[in-house]
Amino acid sequence: MSMTTGELREKFLKFFESEGHVIIPSASLIPENDPSALFISAGMHPLVPYLLGQPHPSGKKLANLQKCIRTVDIDEVGDDWHVTFLEMLGNWSLGDYFKKESITMSWKFLTDPQYLGISSSRISVSVFEGDDDAPRDNESADIWKSVGIPDERIHFYNKNENWWGPAGKTGPCGPDTEIFFDTGRKACGPDCEPKCTCGKYVEIWNNVFMEYNKTADGKYEKLDKKNVDTGMGALRVAAVLSDQQSVYESEIFQPILKLIEKLSEKNADDKKLIKSFRIIADHIRAATFILGDEKGTTPSNVDQGYILRRLIRRAIRHGQQIGIKQAFTHKLAEEIIKNERNDYEELTTHKDFIIEQLVREEEKFSKTLDRGLKEFKKLSAKSKIMGQDAFDLFATFGFPFEMTAELAAEQGTKIDEEDFKKSFVKHQELSRAGAEQKFAGGLADHSEETTKLHTANHLLLAALKKILGPEINQKGSNITKERLRFDFSWPEKITPEQIKEVEGIVNEQIQKDIPVSFKEMSIEEAKKMNATGVFEHKYGDQVKVYSMGDFSIEICGGPHVEHTGQLGKFKIKKEQASSAGVRRIKAVLE
Ligand code: SER
Repeated sequence: MSMTTGELREKFLKFFESEGHVIIPSASLIPENDPSALFISAGMHPLVPYLLGQPHPSGKKLANLQKCIRTVDIDEVGDDWHVTFLEMLGNWSLGDYFKKESITMSWKFLTDPQYLGISSSRISVSVFEGDDDAPRDNESADIWKSVGIPDERIHFYNKNENWWGPAGKTGPCGPDTEIFFDTGRKACGPDCEPKCTCGKYVEIWNNVFMEYNKTADGKYEKLDKKNVDTGMGALRVAAVLSDQQSVYESEIFQPILKLIEKLSEKNADDKKLIKSFRIIADHIRAATFILGDEKGTTPSNVDQGYILRRLIRRAIRHGQQIGIKQAFTHKLAEEIIKNERNDYEELTTHKDFIIEQLVREEEKFSKTLDRGLKEFKKLSAKSKIMGQDAFDLFATFGFPFEMTAELAAEQGTKIDEEDFKKSFVKHQELSRAGAEQKFAGGLADHSEETTKLHTANHLLLAALKKILGPEINQKGSNITKERLRFDFSWPEKITPEQIKEVEGIVNEQIQKDIPVSFKEMSIEEAKKMNATGVFEHKYGDQVKVYSMGDFSIEICGGPHVEHTGQLGKFKIKKEQASSAGVRRIKAVLE
């Protein structure tokens, strides 16, 4: 069989649509409501409030493809299957169907010739063996038997293998049943079974039966409703079904690897270089999608920006290692955008931003990379690399901590693990202090003050569009009780006259005391209304659109005040550069 990720996605979504599911768009890579996570890491992640019981505007049966960033396995990137940017296909039941329907549908999709048509003899499954928190899942095993899987291909495993979630410290979770594909490779030995990592078996789908909520004190409480959350990594599954030995053989990675071959004049199959080739291809693809996300992030030393920087700089370092002599990350991004723009409109929308950011980051890092490597060499002559050394490499030469650890591992230099970890945790804590502010759609809380500033934020965006032009886009916002902080795309300083004009327009709208109202509608209807927001998805979803007369129409989850007259006087306190091509305004209500 041969199947591209695009074909798999289409089949998957069509199948679940025909089974009564509403196809919802992928959420942004940056979580709206989760202060504990920097990126969306699973398809269920944006759905947590609904898995906990809030009604979803699109109903109880949903399916989609969700963009995810997973950095937990970043050190494994370079092997056959790991990547940091994932496209997760998933279907959900929010208190609707449970184990029987979920397993039966998965089986049908996998084996029916109209869909994937996989021979049933190549499928094995695992189910939860039970412990003090939840019972042995005989029910799922029986359902698998009833569809035709023999006992010897049903394996019972413990929590490490067959339990999923929560995505953060607390939240919805439950036992899962995992589906494995037999690649036909030789077994590593007589004891080889699905959980073995030798490569014979590849996990292709995970059906989680989310009927628990893990609480802050570590207890598993039963949820009021039983949910299903399934996840299938599109790239990996398309590759195994196409009998490819690795995701890097796919139509997604081949053109990127070919271009890296051209730029380095080396062979991607060279055993000594293959890992670098794969790291570069994966990391620049992930960076392209992070930069191209609707909530675009820029490389920095904190939060999402740090992860982005780390991905780009690691790729640059590996590029240097395989002999690339010129700036190359933006060239790879151009290739990625060209190949994937039909599936992800946002890549076209944000192309200039993606390229510009990569060029800048590479320029910046290339200046210090060689000197940093020399410094590292000096440091590695000592018996051990200490945490302070890593800090210095980071502060002076821009070496992410993980890069220093990787260099040390490659060269067999010892690092003082404890000391290193301490320094690293300190850095992460500093980062997290910033991250805490970024939740609830950029709102620190839902207090009256914050809500007022949130409404003012909408007025500000509309006013900026009036003065600077409709092409400006929101790049981020962060609102506390005290002030709003608003980032938007604009290449130059805003003049004092323009600031006065913007303030004037916002205050005029406040004085008019316009009612603030919202309506739920499909994304198509929102588009027709010319609402500001995110329009990159093909499939219609219900969204909330907040309007203040004709002046501001914006897709947004709220909350807002009822009348603009409640806001008081709007004042811009500061206008500055946030990063290349992005300006930042700080404003208050007096
Ligand atoms: N949450 C599970 C996973 O990501 C199933 O979607 O594997």
